[in-house]
Amino acid sequence: MAKNDWYKKMTVYQIWTRSFCDSNGDGIGDLPGVLSKLDYIKSLGVDAIWFSPIYPTPNADYGYDISDYKNINSEYGTLDDFKKILDGAHERGMKVIMDLVVNHTSDEHEWFKQSAQSKDNPYHDYYFWRKGKDKKPPNNWLSMFEGNAWEYNEKLDEYYLHIFAKKQPDLNMDNPKVREEVKDIMRFWLDMGVDGFREDVITFISKDEGLPNGIPLPVGTGIEHYKHGPHLDEYLSEFRHDVLDNYDCFTVGEAPMMTPETALPFIGEGENQKLDMMFHFQHMEADNMINDWIKMPFSLVKLKHAFSNWQNKLYGKAWNALYIENHDHARIINRYGNVNYRTESGKMLAAMYMLQCGTPFIYQGQEIGMTNMNLKSVTECKDVSTFNNERVFKKLGMSDKAFMKLVNSVSRENSRTPVQWNSENNAGFTSGTPWFKINDNYKEVNVENEENDPNSLLNFYRKLIKFRKENDVVLYGKYKEFYPMSNSLYVYERKYRDSKLLVICSFKEKSVRFKAPEGYDLSKGELVLNNYSDNKIVNNGFMTKPYEVRVYLF
Ligand code: GLC
Ligand code: CA
Repeated sequence: MAKNDWYKKMTVYQIWTRSFCDSNGDGIGDLPGVLSKLDYIKSLGVDAIWFSPIYPTPNADYGYDISDYKNINSEYGTLDDFKKILDGAHERGMKVIMDLVVNHTSDEHEWFKQSAQSKDNPYHDYYFWRKGKDKKPPNNWLSMFEGNAWEYNEKLDEYYLHIFAKKQPDLNMDNPKVREEVKDIMRFWLDMGVDGFREDVITFISKDEGLPNGIPLPVGTGIEHYKHGPHLDEYLSEFRHDVLDNYDCFTVGEAPMMTPETALPFIGEGENQKLDMMFHFQHMEADNMINDWIKMPFSLVKLKHAFSNWQNKLYGKAWNALYIENHDHARIINRYGNVNYRTESGKMLAAMYMLQCGTPFIYQGQEIGMTNMNLKSVTECKDVSTFNNERVFKKLGMSDKAFMKLVNSVSRENSRTPVQWNSENNAGFTSGTPWFKINDNYKEVNVENEENDPNSLLNFYRKLIKFRKENDVVLYGKYKEFYPMSNSLYVYERKYRDSKLLVICSFKEKSVRFKAPEGYDLSKGELVLNNYSDNKIVNNGFMTKPYEVRVYLF
């Protein structure tokens, strides 16, 4: 089948079901809840929904630990409920993509239970079981979530590998039977009518032969031996040729630590392309080092460098996946914007990333400017990565209070709170007791309020999505950045045939002088998107208002 490229025109909306909308009052978001909001989702102008995992799971990592790949988590509903959503989305002209989590399973998956039975169980080699060395784990690898990457099993006197939590044993993708299982799972969902996959940490699936020791790091020791391992190319090609090429679908792979150079062999367009797009992390590191928990002051120069590097190096060769939020990061307004200018900075950030070249993804709640939490104690927290970091930071002597401040600033808790639909009880998320605390600001920040205000962030997102779809310069234009060393302004151009777009974003509260780049006469441009009503031009430029954004079309 000829390779499609309809995914280039799409905007995708990500749903983390547990916190989206609860239909039956048990406090947990569910699929009938999603079904009831399909018109809302469609009203944004988006073209596809990506579901974070909705399969059966013991919830050690809220669905990223799967115990059955071919069913639906009973807390969320049934396969029939899912089919209704699939039909409902398709009827409305929206695609649906599933999260494919195959670097690891849950330890409660039948394969793992079998594999732990005995060394000659046919499933034993589905995972990485190894003998220890002198009563110590087989190597020095550390997991991302829970200390050592190896867990001991007394009965077998062997350890199993888990790059993430203990309850997320890594699958041995070198075993051809495991790859057949993966293909079988893909076919199951594609045959049902699903339109593609977001592939969870897919670049981690091939580990270096012999699992050698890694360079010591505070977390994730060993990562250089699997971040894009020796057989990754081969396995992704196999999935593509044996399955994906036979369907009209698309894939986006999650790819920590990727650079444009390391990504291009996988996403470069042509015969050898393995994935349509990748989620890289480089622009999510403008306020931290290595990972979100090691905070640094926000650097606009760093942010722009990351974006521009991907824009420039992929142009004409591969396609970008654009995002600034998902279920793994704190809310972007708190990070790169300013909560005191929630709407203004929210609009600026939206235009900043969505007008670049690539397919934009929007995470639930982002479109209404949901912000970080104010959790008081670890007992209110839900995420395995918070609990792990608690151990790490307390060992370093951090106080409870300082730790909670960090949690409310960087943790994944912040993006996982229930969506705020209105100012009624529990923000209209549930009629029961919500499974997780609702943000105190729900009376002010909610979908209903945003609907009622023509100048809201929500309505700005709608305008932006529509504008992108209707203008080839946004879809295909070449990107060029101006003033890369400015720590206040992000200014870039998109150019396609005889039209040009100039995007001007201020990341500062204080007023900054903007002067149009060489060759631009602002008075000749059409102001197509902006976040203040006063848009005077003085001397071919202007003094910016807090977090001002202006987009001119020429
Ligand atoms: C990905 C997911 C994250 C999960 C991890 C392990 O990074 O996005 O939520 O915890 O993989 O599956
Ligand atoms: Ca429910």
